[in-house]
Amino acid sequence: MIPKIGLSEDSIEKIIKLLSVVLSDEMTLYVKTRKSHWNVAGQSFMELHKLFEVQYSELEVIIDNVAERIGKLGGKTIGTMNEFSALSRIMEHPNKYPVQNTMLTELLNDHKTIIYELRKDIDTCTNDCHDAGTADLLTGILQQHETIAWVLRRYLS
Ligand SMILES: [Fe+2]
Repeated sequence: MIPKIGLSEDSIEKIIKLLSVVLSDEMTLYVKTRKSHWNVAGQSFMELHKLFEVQYSELEVIIDNVAERIGKLGGKTIGTMNEFSALSRIMEHPNKYPVQNTMLTELLNDHKTIIYELRKDIDTCTNDCHDAGTADLLTGILQQHETIAWVLRRYLS
């Protein structure tokens, strides 16, 4: 059922599609951060093992908030790996196990990709759909990615 919350049906449909893509990005980056947690090796093993755990835990909360926002807008929330893979704007690299610095650089680039995409998504929510609620949710998420990107950049500098 489409909720009556001052948004047009067209806007709601557009936002649900947009949020499904954001959810897919976050799920993909969550899995990639888990993979890094599992496979990191080298002198900073425990430091990075723990850092990645903090980061995927943060992504887990983001994922739940985005998924439930879709529900609040009356949509069905996708929940299969096939759908996430089809929609995600984040690339995966099967069978690759990079060394520490490459691992950090790849994760940093993924967070940067999400930051760039979220800026566009926030503009769409605000200007095209007049959905302040979703724009605000995505703005908070954008700030979380900016913080994670800053932390990753510090390890690389
Ligand atoms: Fe673990």
